[in-house]
Parts: sequence; structure tokens; C-alpha cells
Amino acid sequence: MTTSEIKRKVWRISRAGSLGRLKLQSEGLPPPRPGEARIAVKAIGLNFADIFACLGLYSATPKGSFIPGLEFSGIVEEIEPINPRSRAKGNRQFRKGDKVMGVTRFGGYASHLNADIRCLWHFPSNWSFSAGAAFPIQGLTAWYALKELGNMQKKDTVLVHSAAGGVGLMALEIIHKMQGKAVGTIGSDEKLAFLEKRSRLKKSEIIVRDPKNYSLQLSQVLRSIKEEGFDLILDSVAGHYLLPGYKKMKPGGRLILFGAGSMMPTGNRPNYLRLWKSYLRRPRLDPLAMISQNKGLLAFNLIWLWKEIEKFAAMGDNLLSLGLRPPHIGAAYPFDQAKKALQVFQSGKTVGKVVLLNGYHRRR
Ligand SMILES: NC(=O)c1ccc[n+]([C@@H]2O[C@H](COP(=O)([O-])OP(=O)(O)OC[C@H]3O[C@@H](n4cnc5c(N)ncnc54)[C@H](OP(=O)(O)O)[C@@H]3O)[C@@H](O)[C@H]2O)c1
Repeated sequence: MTTSEIKRKVWRISRAGSLGRLKLQSEGLPPPRPGEARIAVKAIGLNFADIFACLGLYSATPKGSFIPGLEFSGIVEEIEPINPRSRAKGNRQFRKGDKVMGVTRFGGYASHLNADIRCLWHFPSNWSFSAGAAFPIQGLTAWYALKELGNMQKKDTVLVHSAAGGVGLMALEIIHKMQGKAVGTIGSDEKLAFLEKRSRLKKSEIIVRDPKNYSLQLSQVLRSIKEEGFDLILDSVAGHYLLPGYKKMKPGGRLILFGAGSMMPTGNRPNYLRLWKSYLRRPRLDPLAMISQNKGLLAFNLIWLWKEIEKFAAMGDNLLSLGLRPPHIGAAYPFDQAKKALQVFQSGKTVGKVVLLNGYHRRR
């Protein structure tokens, strides 16, 4: 059934370069096309990629005007009959009124959007819309890093950076389900109590990263957990933490790099001088030496998986079958306060996930 265009609210940026260009506006949304569902968005998950995209530092940043946002939850309002060649199977069938979560290649910061049904999932009935919106990107990132690239095995010892953040907490959950041994790092001791409480990590398994003594910190933690080295490292911080971690991997170790938090610009615009300096000082590895060290480094950006949407869907299904706890929501902001939410998220001080909520009006 084809419906007519509806009015929606969006956060749109005229062109990448500054978060200051992000504006709340009303615009029309055409009816969903075959294979799409129109979603009344209830919650939106924030990601570093949103900030990098708005600043123009993300390789996949769209040209010209765009709406940021990669993940959401909401209610199916309309669904267009699917092209028989891309017919959804099994639990990937959706009806009007279903509660769903999903990923979108930009366009998430909206009150309504048309989503490819292959990028939608039903979420567990006891989860809130916030939990649903917080799940897909961090879940898929953690899964892809641990399983698809990291080839994590039972009893592997895994170092997880930014362990109190969205992806970090999800990775710890998955490692626990897969009976691995985890060590987490955080940037400040303000997150320590939270991480101890939320995760199953003991204090001795958490490192508050100290740039001057990081190598020593890794040795101490390995001694205390009676391990010679790490089998796997999930690194989203990079900078001068990458090489010491690499050195502390066992032969056969895999370092999975998927972010550079320590190079994250603060403020509305990138500080190009600071970025350039950290780029020049970026860590380097010699691939020939890696042969005799028997260690590897793999890097990825989830956005490339849009070219393999079926894989995306299957990974999400595998992840959901683990029966994980709902993601921890660190902070929720009303939709019209997206800029404030991004500022807080950008500070690096948040724990768990930061979400925007439609229809939520907090007293100012
Ligand atoms: N490649 C991909 O496809 C992909 C997909 C999703 C996420 N990611 C990356 O994964 C990381 C975690 O993502 P998330 O969404 O779950 O975010 P998050 O962990 O909730 O927040 C990011 C964390 O980065 C850390 N950080 C380190 N240095 C920082 C700095 N200079 N400024 C700000 N924060 C800094 C902070 O934790 P600590 O200081 O405690 O370490 C902060 O909590 C991000 O780097 C993100 O870009 C990559």
C-alpha cells in the first residue's frame, strides 16, 4: 500500500565541516519504497561516527547536505510489499505496529525514516526503546571485531579498550558469554566504580590508562591474571596505546583496530594542527617483522558492510541469539537537544550509551 508523503523533523547538516551547521528542521518524507518500512523513531543511538561525519573526518561522509545517525529504534508505521527477490525470511518479517531496532547508512537523526527491512530486527520484549537504539552498532561492532575478524575462542584472553563505553560493555558481555577472559581499559578513574558494578570485571582486571606507565600496567595485569599475554585486543583508542598492547600479545595474537578515540577532536570544528601532529606521531608496525612475531593486526569500518547487507542481517541474528543483557544507557536527551548530547558524548566522559529520545521532554 503506497501512502502519501508525511512531514517529519530531522537534524540536517548543510555540509560537513562543523557541528555548528547542524540544524533542526521540518521536511517531507516520501512513502517507503518496496523493501522498506516507515518507522516512527522513538530513540536514536549516538556514535563517534556521527561526530566524525559532521566534522568531515569520516571517509564515508556524504557529499553536501545529510542527516547524521546510524541506528534507531521505533515502531513500524507502514511497510511496502517486498520485491520477491529480496523477500525477508523467518523472523525478519515485520508488520505494522512492530517494535524494531535498525541501522541506516546515515539519516537516523529523524522523527520518521524509511528503513531497508534487511537492516531491521525485532528487539526483546523486555527492552526499552533506548536499549533497542543502543544495541545494533555497538553490538555489530563488538561481534565483528571479536568473532568475524578476531576469531575469538573459548578461554581467549581479550584486552578491551574504552571498556565502560558502548562498544566496550557489549564486547565484555559477548566475551563472558563465550567464556573468555577479559581485561578492560578506561581513560579515567571516574569510570572505575561504574565498570566494576556493571561488568563482571574485578578491580585487578581494569586498567585506568596512564600514558607514561601503560606498558608496565599491562605487565602487572597479566601477572595478576596469570597470563603470558593477550590473544586478542580490541583497540578503538589507538595513539600511543597501540604498540605496547601489540607487544604484549602472545604469538598468534590478533589486534583489531576500529577507532582512534585518542585522536578525537573536541569542540565544534576539528583542530587541524593537533590532528596533524597526532597523525605524524601515529604508531607504525613493520609487516615483515610481524611474520616472525606471529602476530597480526586487522582494521575495519563497519560502514563497508552496507555493501553486504545480508551479512549484516545474519550477524545481528547471531548476536541476538546470545541472549545478552540490554545495553546500559548512560544518558538520554530529548531529540531537540541533539547538539548538547553530542557535546557531552564528545567529551569522552560518558559511560554506556548516549541516546536521543523522540517524545521525551526533560525539564530545562
Ligand atoms: N570502525 C567501526 O566500524 C566502529 C563502529 C563503532 C564504534 N567505533 C569506535 O569504537 C569506539 C567506541 O565507540 P562507542 O560508540 O562505544 O563510544 P564510547 O565507548 O561510548 O565512547 C568513546 C570512548 O572513547 C574513549 N576516548 C579515548 N580517548 C578519547 C578522547 N580523546 N576523547 C574522547 N573519548 C576518548 C573514551 O573512553 P575511555 O577514555 O574510557 O577509553 C570514551 O568513552 C569509538 O572510538 C568509535 O569510533 C568504530
